[in-house]
Amino acid sequence: MNDNKSIDNENRGRAIQEMFSAIAPRYDFLNRLLSLGIDQSWRQTLVRMALREESRAILDVACGTGDVSLALRQKTPQARIVGLDFSQAMLDLAKIKIDRAQAGIELVAASAEELPFPKADFDLLTIAFGIRNVVDKKKALVEFYRVLKPHGRLVVLEFSQPQMAWLRTLYNFYFFKVLPLIGGLFARRSAYRYLPDSVAKFPSRDEFVGWLKEAGFRQCRYHSLTFGIATLYLAEKLD
Ligand SMILES: C[S@@+](CC[C@H](N)C(=O)[O-])C[C@H]1O[C@@H](n2cnc3c(N)ncnc32)[C@H](O)[C@@H]1O
Repeated sequence: MNDNKSIDNENRGRAIQEMFSAIAPRYDFLNRLLSLGIDQSWRQTLVRMALREESRAILDVACGTGDVSLALRQKTPQARIVGLDFSQAMLDLAKIKIDRAQAGIELVAASAEELPFPKADFDLLTIAFGIRNVVDKKKALVEFYRVLKPHGRLVVLEFSQPQMAWLRTLYNFYFFKVLPLIGGLFARRSAYRYLPDSVAKFPSRDEFVGWLKEAGFRQCRYHSLTFGIATLYLAEKLD
């Protein structure tokens, strides 16, 4: 990567980090409001499909305020769970929720593109509504592969464009018109303009599966959730 590109990526990363830190205090409230509570059922589906008996060490990347880490903890009382995010404001809120639930989850401030863990450290890596925001997504996928143990599993939950044309029209109206308005009442409006843009720019499901394979993952598949508004990707590290 040439120097200009890496400086550009650094600046974009910093802007995204600042944006999430700014909306952190309103993040959970707006999530529930804007998704009408569906976001929590998607996280439950993630946990149900991600966990296996051998999921003893779990890394939840872009953990935000900790909802996925906490949902994982409910189903795996014994596992080592680490939540990682590059926004300290998000992590501070996660810590409050984790302490309240006495959930024993480690929190680490770091970037998805440079994970501060040795190779083959985790059995399961989850990332919910996070990969869309990572500036160098392919680099992050290679990092995910590196820190997973052989036979480890990656599970990615992300927004997607519904397949049905009428629903896509409705979805785009909600995402591009309604959501920035409601979001703007409670938090920085630019953050809720950024959300639909980042979803629109995210690769198609098949293209993203191609990226997973490029990073080394195998048995890559995906499941549409709620008519394709969100997609759950699963991928395995075979050796
Ligand atoms: C939409 S929130 C999702 C949070 C949480 N996973 C959830 O399900 O609510 C996205 C999170 O990704 C984090 N994030 C974005 N890019 C990141 C990166 N490169 N490295 C680490 N965290 C990142 C943000 O700080 C934010 O907390």
